[in-house]
Amino acid sequence: MTTIAALDTFYPGELWPDNNGVHINAHGGGILLHEGTYYWFGEHKIEGTAGNAAHVGVHCYSSTDLYNWKDEGIALAVSDDPASDIVKGNVIERPKVIHCAATGKFVMWFHLELAGQSYKAARTATAISDTPTGPYKFLESFRPNAGHWPINVPDELKKPLTPEESATLAALNLHGGPTPGYPTDQIFRRDFAGGQMSRDMTLFVDDDGAAYHIHASEDNGVLHISQLTADYLRPSGKYARFFPGQFNEAPALFKRNGKYYLLSSGCTGWDPNAARSAVADSIWGPWTELGNPCIGPNAELTFDGQATHVLPVPGIPDAYIFLADRWQPKNAIDGRYLWLPIDFTADTPHIEWFNSWDLSYFTDR
Ligand code: DGJ
Repeated sequence: MTTIAALDTFYPGELWPDNNGVHINAHGGGILLHEGTYYWFGEHKIEGTAGNAAHVGVHCYSSTDLYNWKDEGIALAVSDDPASDIVKGNVIERPKVIHCAATGKFVMWFHLELAGQSYKAARTATAISDTPTGPYKFLESFRPNAGHWPINVPDELKKPLTPEESATLAALNLHGGPTPGYPTDQIFRRDFAGGQMSRDMTLFVDDDGAAYHIHASEDNGVLHISQLTADYLRPSGKYARFFPGQFNEAPALFKRNGKYYLLSSGCTGWDPNAARSAVADSIWGPWTELGNPCIGPNAELTFDGQATHVLPVPGIPDAYIFLADRWQPKNAIDGRYLWLPIDFTADTPHIEWFNSWDLSYFTDR
């Protein structure tokens, strides 16, 4: 039997062996802390470019110290049934799990693209379990907030598109990235009846137990923040639009000293770009942009990474860890994880590169 040496250091960008010595396979992930154990959920990737689609499901690992992760297996498995929304070969990205104290259930949300449709479906999906590690039961996929208007648009925009607007919008052939002529006040109107587009996403549970789905919408041009129902299973219908026309994805939201912080990226596919940050006194805004939180060499490319989660470390004052992916789209399984400490100057976050670091960083600084 091989003995795996215990880890006590983070090595951003390096292979990260699990308890079996295998590189952790949980990309676009998020962390749930439940009863003293951390659970890391992420996309299980396979080798090659095929790994950019979902062939296995959502992988779960557990840890009590954040360095050493035990493979807990596949929490949500893709289906072999061609009629299933989560049939093998579709796209399952950025899974996040939250625990609903009101129901006792563990609820997973993820970005879902239907097989053979590239990124056109732009749906979100849910799954549920009685235990953190699963197996999770797939519930449904949908576009959020059908039949509801955002809370922060003027009444004069609460109307369907005119035939002229529809025609101009269709002719733009939007592709999920910045596009000249992108209309900042039309796509949510087009999608009012059928539900709002939902791609990159995260979840956030506030101190009062209210949960939120933060997702790239309107062909990635506008970020939506949507409150969930009390059981965390559906959008409540209360939602708002932010940063219209600015094309944010990879959202990660956290709270510090009563303020809400949002980290995100621009939209350049698998290629890295400059991270972004914003702060607000209320999750409903107004949000103030703070620019790229990364500093130092390669900051303009987020150290070749893209945000996926911010983890507050309980028991250590003011300790927040930035979790990002360094994608390897040509060999998806080789994607690396960048975990870096977040510092604050007054209320502005900064993220600096370290080849290696450990949690004493937070107590020694
Ligand atoms: C960037 C997103 O953040 C990823 O989750 C993934 O959707 C890729 N784009 C696909 O190009």
